[in-house]
Amino acid sequence: MTIASKQGAHSIQLLKRCLAYFFRYKARLAVAILGMLVVAPCAAASAWLVKKAVDDVLINKDIVALKFVTIGIVVLMSLKGVFRFLQNYYMNTAGLLAINDLRNELYAKIVYLPMNYFNESQVGMLMSRVLNDVGLIRASLPSMVMLTREFFSVIGLAFYVFYLDWKLAFWGTLVLPAALYPFIYYSKRMRKLGRRTQGHVSDVSVRLQEGLSGIRIIKGFAKEQAEITRFLDENSKLVASSNKQILASEQSSRVMETVGSFAAGLVLWYGGSRVIAGDLTTGALMSFLTALIMLYDPIKRMSAANIDIQMALTGAERVFEIMDKSDSIVERGGSVELAGPFQEIAFEDVLFTYDGTNRPALDGINLQVKAGERVAIVGSSGSGKSTLANMVPRFFDPQGGRILLNGRPLGDYTLNSLRRSMGLVSQDAFLFNATVRENIAYGAEGAYTQEQVEAAAKAAYAHEFVLELPEGYDTLVGERGVKLSGGQKQRLTIARAIMKNPPLLILDEATSALDTESERIVQLALENLMQDRTSIVIAHRLSTILTANLIVVMSEGRIVDQGKHAKLLERCEIYRTLYEMQFGAAH
Ligand SMILES: Nc1ncnc2c1ncn2[C@@H]1O[C@H](COP(=O)(O)OP(=O)(O)OP(=O)(O)O)[C@@H](O)[C@H]1O
Ligand SMILES: [Mg+2]
Repeated sequence: MTIASKQGAHSIQLLKRCLAYFFRYKARLAVAILGMLVVAPCAAASAWLVKKAVDDVLINKDIVALKFVTIGIVVLMSLKGVFRFLQNYYMNTAGLLAINDLRNELYAKIVYLPMNYFNESQVGMLMSRVLNDVGLIRASLPSMVMLTREFFSVIGLAFYVFYLDWKLAFWGTLVLPAALYPFIYYSKRMRKLGRRTQGHVSDVSVRLQEGLSGIRIIKGFAKEQAEITRFLDENSKLVASSNKQILASEQSSRVMETVGSFAAGLVLWYGGSRVIAGDLTTGALMSFLTALIMLYDPIKRMSAANIDIQMALTGAERVFEIMDKSDSIVERGGSVELAGPFQEIAFEDVLFTYDGTNRPALDGINLQVKAGERVAIVGSSGSGKSTLANMVPRFFDPQGGRILLNGRPLGDYTLNSLRRSMGLVSQDAFLFNATVRENIAYGAEGAYTQEQVEAAAKAAYAHEFVLELPEGYDTLVGERGVKLSGGQKQRLTIARAIMKNPPLLILDEATSALDTESERIVQLALENLMQDRTSIVIAHRLSTILTANLIVVMSEGRIVDQGKHAKLLERCEIYRTLYEMQFGAAH
């Protein structure tokens, strides 16, 4: 197979996939097609009535014909209106629903992509695929219908011109094959430019997303102007490639017209000389030329439809690229439901390296945590503590060694049951822009009561400040919880974990220091949370390490020592330094 035909096959494949989304709405499409089939003859019939009006009414002054024509035109026009409505309304709603399905499926796919897929720059890119690229696909079916319809018009009109005068028709359609080359050339070009433009749309959306989520930093560093310039740069690239697209689209239409004018020129030259020679009437040549011009009209429309299809295919490529992320990339759990009490989690010689780095973030990790224990992980920044914690809910899977939960590898359990059995409180307190109540109850399975929410809030020392909020538990906390203080946000995330009531708790203590008073309250809240639970705590607080059953000391991705505070102080150099720097001096 040649490269061109491979690409062709690929495009057809893509197009079929797009159309399959429309074909889910067969009833709507059927009505739309019915509408289309009625509208076309209605238009022809009203043209015929107009001719009758001229001939019979105006010229022959036939009063019966006047009534007939008047009623006929009104009826026909109304019919045409009704069926055109059916055609447009149902075609458009089918498109809307198809796009809706596609967008939902895409989001569902994205949410199940694994953690390592989401870094800052990809968030904007993914948003752009959901919002922009999916939208492009909407034109695919209507344009395909248009292409098909115009194709038949071309065939029909071609027969007609050959029927009128086959010699003239020969000259008129001689240049038709010449239209094929620009048709293919511009298809390819539009596709290439489309890809580039959508890439830039995505870059702009990345910029926008980053700028808006970092607005506090931008303002704090008085960098508004620099950010505007960066945005302008990105945007001007988008404008440049869109400009090329407009140019190519215009060129393509004009080239088609020029080809058409060559055809008309040839016919005029050949037909004109026959008129001069006297073996063709002027009227016959004129009517032939009119038919020929009519023939090139659908060709132009086919070319326009083709451009829309190419754009839709560009969008489809980008959408299906994500939909087709192989199953190895999608998060996969096992089939065992994790049930029964938590017994033990064990790391055996775990090795893990982040994509795109060479140094392992975890190397030869051996660790056992038994039910009811509190294990504190300490280590300098970048030593791998958060990475270790992230292995437990399988945000990342080890590349070497294994992690056993209740004696079975983590991968055996369904992701759902695995993650339901653990509570995560991460370093950065993240809240959804929802009410306080919804945020606290986020992890609750099924229905919950106000009492449960309040009990969790009370245990997290959040109840009182929540009551002071303008609408209490119904207060919206703003995006990421911007309307709350750092300590309040932390307490709500603690309440959220308490509400979930998991047997295993993974707690990445916030490094950002709170003032002494809120610090004390957060600490009390955490004590309540950790009570009667197995917890793995990445410790930044002295109180946490002092109450831990086991302290694990990490350095450069390895566990260098583990034991109790007093013993470690005695024998572990790294722990001593850490203690003096992080915990000792501050408290
Ligand atoms: N998403 C990532 N991609 C690539 N490398 C990463 C990623 N996250 C962390 N790392 C690297 O892995 C190492 C361990 O990072 P980790 O976040 O586990 O450190 P940490 O001990 O939690 O530090 P801190 O106390 O500052 O939170 C670091 O060298 C870091 O640069
Ligand atoms: Mg960390």
